[in-house]
Amino acid sequence: MLHDLVIREALVIDGTGADPFVADIAIDRDRIVRVGTVGRSGHREILAAGAAASPGFIDVHTHDDRLVLIDPGMTAKVSQGITTVVTGNCGISLSPRRWQGPPVAPLTLLGGERDFRYPTFASYAAEVRDRGCATNVVPMVGHTALRASVLDDCARPARPDEIRLMEAMVDEALAAGATGLTTGVYYPPAAAAGAEEIVPLLRRVAQRAGLYAAHIRDEGDGLMASLDEAISCAREGGVALQVSHLKCASPKVWGASGRVLARLEREAEVYPVSFDVYPYEASSTMLRPDRLADATRVVVSWSDPHPDEAGRDLAEIAGDWCCSPEDAARRLSPGGGIYYKMQERDVRRILAHPMGMIGSDGLPHDRHPHPRLWGTFPRILGHYVRELKLLTLVEAVRKMTSLPAAAFGLADRGVLREGAFADIALFDPLKIADTATFARPVSPARGIDTVLANGQVIWANGGPTGTRPGRVLSRVAARPLSPKPRRSSAASAATALG
Ligand code: ZN
Ligand code: CU
Repeated sequence: MLHDLVIREALVIDGTGADPFVADIAIDRDRIVRVGTVGRSGHREILAAGAAASPGFIDVHTHDDRLVLIDPGMTAKVSQGITTVVTGNCGISLSPRRWQGPPVAPLTLLGGERDFRYPTFASYAAEVRDRGCATNVVPMVGHTALRASVLDDCARPARPDEIRLMEAMVDEALAAGATGLTTGVYYPPAAAAGAEEIVPLLRRVAQRAGLYAAHIRDEGDGLMASLDEAISCAREGGVALQVSHLKCASPKVWGASGRVLARLEREAEVYPVSFDVYPYEASSTMLRPDRLADATRVVVSWSDPHPDEAGRDLAEIAGDWCCSPEDAARRLSPGGGIYYKMQERDVRRILAHPMGMIGSDGLPHDRHPHPRLWGTFPRILGHYVRELKLLTLVEAVRKMTSLPAAAFGLADRGVLREGAFADIALFDPLKIADTATFARPVSPARGIDTVLANGQVIWANGGPTGTRPGRVLSRVAARPLSPKPRRSSAASAATALG
């Protein structure tokens, strides 16, 4: 009897942080059945000959809600070795949609009125399942989509009856397979929402052991207070917290990453909190005339009224138009921008921290996207691991695989071992590199040889294979939420030193 597929002589990086070892990997149907010496042949054999084999990478922070429907090959992601994407982040999800007319920004990051066509989360999840795509999908539901559906005016807090309607929508979404709720109170249509509105929704999430991912209110001057706000909402709601794209995003908080990480470490001793990060000094989101001051430079990533300005500096455009950057941003809206507002030392400290997962935060529908869309994972493995030695290869892979699989409750994923699902990335550790730059952002990584999802090859010979083995994954094995007793500070200091 032949195995379906055998990978020969791979350098196995199993995702747990353990030392690599050379082994064959046998796959039958969607599972890994043997890691070691494989005597039997396979219907198909891949000679890795020293290439690394790791679990497929999990991109925990994406805005791929629509990409999974319109680009089933998921080239931007699979070309990086990604086999699972978490969607619906920052409060922004493609469903449910119950409002009339065009979507409000930042929902526009996902598309226009015609694209928001799923009144229930179940109808969206069914569409993802029916169409199928190359990667697995872990969908989350966004609070801003709920607000836009329920409130006539998103500039005010929700009334109790509106909160009840949103609670019902959270119930529907989680029953239909959403892994949790995301919020983006940074953005105008959710900024009026405080704990009185968010906590009741999180309590519904808690009933199904879901997760809470937060784009916090202010990643600049108000960073510490905003972290505290997200943590206290999560605790009151009884849900595990994922802080999205952790960063120090204004001159006043440059250098504060040590304090921020210490705060999260302390919290993690008693409560399930974690975070994700992307490896760049610039962020990207909708154009916000009121938030230009934090950035040293802004580049336009898309603009509906002036599509040809995508890729240009906002200051240059303002110069051409003889107006202020704020006025230029207003005239370019709806649109998106790339904001240079972090410092490399903070990016590195956050990236290297053992609690952090990797999330690209890529915006797949931008005309001139931030390079994180195509470059995040290979940039870490090439630039930060191989060139700068900021972290080891096994540690970086752990942060991309077993760590997120545990936090998001993805059973039998994120670890390369017998019995696990055959989500595998084969890559050359000496060659892997991002090629996407701010100037040329749409460019696939180098050094990714072959990628498998659920036992099927989804990437080979430098391109997508056209197979669509991805599944909608739901959360299992949720971590218990009973708070652990707080250790004495002497004990935790000893642990930190040990
Ligand atoms: Zn965000
Ligand atoms: Cu985001």
